[in-house]
Amino acid sequence: MYYAKHDKFIIEDNQVHATDFLPLKKKYKNMEFLGIFKEIVTMFEIDTYMELGVRKGYTFNNIAPLVKSAVAVDIGDMKNIIELPNVTKIQMRTDDLALKWNEPIDFLFIDADHRKEQAMRDFDNFSKFVRIGTGIIAMHDTHPIDQRLLSDDNCSSVWQVADEISRRTKDYYNKFEIFTFPGPFAGLSLIRKRRHHLAWGAVSGDDWNK
Ligand SMILES: C[S@@+](CC[C@H](N)C(=O)[O-])C[C@H]1O[C@@H](n2cnc3c(N)ncnc32)[C@H](O)[C@@H]1O
Repeated sequence: MYYAKHDKFIIEDNQVHATDFLPLKKKYKNMEFLGIFKEIVTMFEIDTYMELGVRKGYTFNNIAPLVKSAVAVDIGDMKNIIELPNVTKIQMRTDDLALKWNEPIDFLFIDADHRKEQAMRDFDNFSKFVRIGTGIIAMHDTHPIDQRLLSDDNCSSVWQVADEISRRTKDYYNKFEIFTFPGPFAGLSLIRKRRHHLAWGAVSGDDWNK
């Protein structure tokens, strides 16, 4: 049996647990990955950032000033969402927006309804618009490290979406690569749309649609 204890994590066999996730949850306020998001925006010259589920704008308000166009989507009011010329606020259910949306997205953050069925529908509906190659999809709450975080008011069952994408349960998921950070309390998956590891290594004519 493998056992290791760090300040934040206990690693036992193949499982990562939090020593105590409550102080971490309070400390990070859902923004534990903000630095990574900012770096992605700079590195990949993100034009369009879309966040499904913005709540008070903790993430959105930090990313919107860094991109050409930022789209905030939520069923709740948007009074805390930053007012900028490049910001579009859409107060709507993600399912309803999916029926109308038709623009490319460079960076998609899926963080709305965390129940598996809905989060999976959000992924299936909006990943179609993410650019091939440098387009990035982030999903929050995909690797909680305490069972109490699986309640619907926390991470719910969104981890199962990341699990299904990684296990390629649909043919469509073969078109993505996925990496998941465990914790530090909730977890984050980064997903890239690609057909081949090296785009320029693709055989001529072997395009996305095949
Ligand atoms: C976890 S919060 C988002 C946190 C935010 N991304 C951040 O980084 O601070 C989830 C948000 O999703 C919204 N939401 C839940 N279900 C939704 C749906 N079906 N369509 C649009 N928004 C939804 C909720 O109103 C809530 O504001």
